[in-house]
Amino acid sequence: MHQMTDDIQEVLFSEERLAEIVSKMGAKISEDYKDKNLLLVSILKGSVVFMSDLMRSVTTPCSIDFMAVSSYGSGMKTSGVVKIIKDLDINLKGYDVLVVEDILDSGLTLSYILELLQAREPKSIRLCTLFDKPDRRTVGIKADYVGTVVPDEFIVGYGLDYDEKYRNLPFVGILKPEVYGG
Ligand code: PRP
Ligand code: MN
Ligand code: MG
Repeated sequence: MHQMTDDIQEVLFSEERLAEIVSKMGAKISEDYKDKNLLLVSILKGSVVFMSDLMRSVTTPCSIDFMAVSSYGSGMKTSGVVKIIKDLDINLKGYDVLVVEDILDSGLTLSYILELLQAREPKSIRLCTLFDKPDRRTVGIKADYVGTVVPDEFIVGYGLDYDEKYRNLPFVGILKPEVYGG
């Protein structure tokens, strides 16, 4: 039987390592937002696993909401167009918004979201990403919280997909190039 793990060249972050990174981020966020009105905004689908772990590492009261956007579709490269698939339910006025992303790559998705949400006049807005690939940035954007910097490899797992698959891998690994015809 074909296993997802057969398609992985190398494990970059084990479940244990991811748990360490995420709990450290949660502790920092809890400290920084202890007197604020925190709203965690998860950008679906990629951030679903990170969000569910991060929110349980946050010890201060917070609200959560979700927004679904897509710029990659099934391809390997960003299409350059960010499509909103599901918008937020909560009105951002009075909230200290923290946008939760799985990966900051070209920066296109986050810069689009940041501009869109800023226009809704939250009390404050900051960005949090589990992974940062600074080498690939085409838009001038920086996250306020970064779990870890990653090399310019095609990584999957822990929410990150290739062609909508591998999101359910509990670790993060490099996809074998033959899987995407590379
Ligand atoms: C991926 C990833 C980030 C974005 C990062 O999302 O989850 O949201 O791309 O890339 P960028 O910095 O170059 O914009 P994708 O569009 O693949 O949608 P998904 O989260 O549903 O997989
Ligand atoms: Mn995404
Ligand atoms: Mg994707």
